[in-house]
Amino acid sequence: MDTPKLIAVTGATGALGGRVAARLAAAGVRQRLVVRDPSRAPDLPNVEIAQATYDDADALREAFAGTDAVFLVSAAEDQERVRQHLTAVDAVAAAGVERVVYTSFVNASADATFTLARHHWLTEERLRERDLAYTALRDSMYLDFLPFMAGAAGVIRGPAGDGRVAMVARDDIADVAVAVLLTEGHERVTYDVTGDRLQTLAEWAAELSAVSGRPVTFQDETVEEAWQSRASYGAPDWVVEGWVASYLAIAAGDLAVVSDTVERLAGHPPTTVRQLVERDPSFLEPSP
Ligand SMILES: NC(=O)c1ccc[n+]([C@@H]2O[C@H](COP(=O)([O-])OP(=O)(O)OC[C@H]3O[C@@H](n4cnc5c(N)ncnc54)[C@H](OP(=O)(O)O)[C@@H]3O)[C@@H](O)[C@H]2O)c1
Repeated sequence: MDTPKLIAVTGATGALGGRVAARLAAAGVRQRLVVRDPSRAPDLPNVEIAQATYDDADALREAFAGTDAVFLVSAAEDQERVRQHLTAVDAVAAAGVERVVYTSFVNASADATFTLARHHWLTEERLRERDLAYTALRDSMYLDFLPFMAGAAGVIRGPAGDGRVAMVARDDIADVAVAVLLTEGHERVTYDVTGDRLQTLAEWAAELSAVSGRPVTFQDETVEEAWQSRASYGAPDWVVEGWVASYLAIAAGDLAVVSDTVERLAGHPPTTVRQLVERDPSFLEPSP
């Protein structure tokens, strides 16, 4: 195994970046954790901390300088998200780092139904334009969010119809990311990172129901109903549009993607709902 000497990990205060950082630390890899708030950086061996946000080109360039690879986690929903991602990709190039692993989304495209998937497409395009040795991990919808989607009422609501999705656990995405960071042969490649079963939301609801022992159902909505049922959150329109579009993308078949990436690169089958509960019973709590 040809291990890069120093890996920059962004998003290390978050769920996915935190998992990747923990796995790299366990593998004895030196890391530079690039975080917005150093006081929240995970306490791990062999780490340096750098402070940067995706709005700050200079801080990012400095944070990435001298590293052998960057794990670039996509940013939180923000109206400036594309600009932030492009700033981050440009900073990788400006720092003279070639290798970058970016967390994208299945079927990212310029006109994706899921509006946030368009951001990922633009970011992937920038990785190619900058001629970086990138790997795009096109992740499916997080399996971890299934109880959150069901909420306290146990109803998954949205205009997804009988469209299907192969949800994937963040643990599995982290395993794939680490394999891609620590081995060769993944340069200028796009991988779909998904579970191994395409299911409708009604089927995912039934699975959650069986595992949790509480009734969980799926309620198909019209677009209008979806906006109405989310009105009480008081979120800005562009946020609600993203939420609703994620269900419309399922209905359109955009998330009907299944791959063997987890099995092939992580070396184990995709994690099931039951395994997530066994690993951490708090998975069933209706918060992400
Ligand atoms: N595939 C899916 O179903 C799905 C679902 C939700 C999100 N996502 C995407 O996947 C990403 C990773 O997921 P996650 O579960 O790890 O999310 P998370 O727990 O919210 O972590 C996001 C991480 O990114 C950092 N971050 C966000 N915006 C940033 C910015 N503008 N500049 C610098 N750092 C920034 C956060 O820093 P702080 O700790 O300082 O906030 C945090 O460390 C998310 O950010 C989102 O883009 C995918």
